[in-house]
Amino acid sequence: MMQTELDLFAPHDPPQPYRVGTQAMVLPGFALPQVQALLPMLREVIAQAPFRHMYTPGGLKMAVALTNCGALGWVSDRQGYRYSGIDPLTQRPWPVIPEALVLLANHAASLAGFSDFQPDACLVNCYRPGTRLSLHQDRDERDFSQPIVSVSLGLPAVFLFGGHTRNASTQRIPLHHGDVLVWGGEDRLRFHGVLPLKPGVHPQMGELRINLTLRKAG
Ligand code: SIN
Ligand code: FE2
Repeated sequence: MMQTELDLFAPHDPPQPYRVGTQAMVLPGFALPQVQALLPMLREVIAQAPFRHMYTPGGLKMAVALTNCGALGWVSDRQGYRYSGIDPLTQRPWPVIPEALVLLANHAASLAGFSDFQPDACLVNCYRPGTRLSLHQDRDERDFSQPIVSVSLGLPAVFLFGGHTRNASTQRIPLHHGDVLVWGGEDRLRFHGVLPLKPGVHPQMGELRINLTLRKAG
């Protein structure tokens, strides 16, 4: 068949990157070419450091199940939120961040304007239908000049991107399988969260959403 101009608008092309803040950007589908390679690596991470529900300093069980890979992992318990080199569940170091994921995060960060991003922590969050993540800031890292790179897998979610106070208005950002979101600079400390996950079955991931956030924590 003859090539037509209409082919330029083929429905399967992911949309172009777009800004959601001065220094925050969504890269739709950016991780898709890597997903097939990343999934077995992620499975390996989860085999070494299983998902678990942590408790908030106030004693509430968190709805999101989580684990980590990297030199540092984010943990929460009665003592507070912090990064730790040791997994409190296994008493071993966290599994390493798969190199392909480090490269992906570094590339996404540079496209969003943050060069030389070298993550040392990757928080892996697991959401099931109904699971939400309430508004919070990511402020347990040492250097807020370093961005956060988030990779979404599985069921779609609505990410809430707020302001610098908890009650500032929020933007609703749809995040799909393979989307990458980067926020840093003046947007680094914006409140954010995730609306309750809608029920659904993702062809590759089943009834869940996994979000990877790569950080330079130490
Ligand atoms: C987070 O804020 O740690 C996770 C955000 C997300 O799941 O998209
Ligand atoms: Fe966060």
